[in-house]
Amino acid sequence: MTDKVPQTVFHDRMLSLGLARVSEAAALASARLVGRGDEKAADQAAVNAMRDQLNLLDIQGVVVIGEGERDEAPMLFIGEEVGTGNGPAVDIALDPLEGTTLTAKDMPNALTVIAMAPRGTLLHAPDVYMDKLAIGPGYPVDVVSLDMSPSQRVEELARARGCEPADITVCVLERPRHEEMIAEIRSTGAAIRLITDGDVAGVIHCAEADKTGIDMYMGSGGAPEGVLAASALKCMGGQMWGRLLFRNEDEKARARKAGIEDFDRVYARDDMVTQDVIFAATGVTDGSILQGMKREPGFVEAETLLMRSKTGSVRHMRYRNPRDRPATGR
Ligand code: FBP
Repeated sequence: MTDKVPQTVFHDRMLSLGLARVSEAAALASARLVGRGDEKAADQAAVNAMRDQLNLLDIQGVVVIGEGERDEAPMLFIGEEVGTGNGPAVDIALDPLEGTTLTAKDMPNALTVIAMAPRGTLLHAPDVYMDKLAIGPGYPVDVVSLDMSPSQRVEELARARGCEPADITVCVLERPRHEEMIAEIRSTGAAIRLITDGDVAGVIHCAEADKTGIDMYMGSGGAPEGVLAASALKCMGGQMWGRLLFRNEDEKARARKAGIEDFDRVYARDDMVTQDVIFAATGVTDGSILQGMKREPGFVEAETLLMRSKTGSVRHMRYRNPRDRPATGR
């Protein structure tokens, strides 16, 4: 990531509707593959559609969080230039299908996700794990931290909320690596919402605690997903921290390639997303944030969350298209 970047002209207001179209197109394409047991096909359909729509936008876009390194991902790879080449220079972070397994198994909270920000302002997170912690808006700054133990985080959050630890619900990815953390959280009396995949949605849940019942997200997941989640929280309010986790030298080499030298750094939300950002996500399967794609006899219907950090605007947009007409194109 570049440290000092001149403030780029970023037509975020004009571009946001285009961004919603990009995430809608990916969701429409993968909807046909919901519950079909084929993760790869669902992901590929979303990638193709997202790329086609992105290339219609008047931007000079560069994918900084994408499908993988150039040699392992033929499309939407890190460094790929997207857009017409006219318009503002922007960074793009995307996950055409966040929750490939959720889609293949028709389980809740699969989303298509994309964020856009001025060039040089999104963390180029390598494809490694990230230790994540997130809470919703309205709490004092740094009320919890990655350096606290899981039980301390629960206790501090409960104190700040004026409730008992037993009134706190924490969202955690269900993984063997989280067993100890889960046991410690439970020892405080707090509840845990376990999710099998999809930690971008997991983090977003914290920003709408009254609707989702989730107060805090913690645990490790993909670092690229961390930057997408930070983009969402920057629009909705809420705090988030992430620390990269490295399992071997190859992963450290990936980080160095992305320009990261301090391997122990804790990234706060605004270190991952340093200027204004726009964010769009469309539901693929039903979830607590978004309704999934509906395929009715005559039409398809999608719900998209479209947000801008500059204004804090949060839109839930419903889109309907006849099934016999192409949903994408100019
Ligand atoms: P995919 O959509 O690429 O399958 O990722 C889903 C996901 O659950 C992410 O939300 C999360 O960050 C990551 O996988 C966790 O990785 P792992 O499955 O290795 O624990």
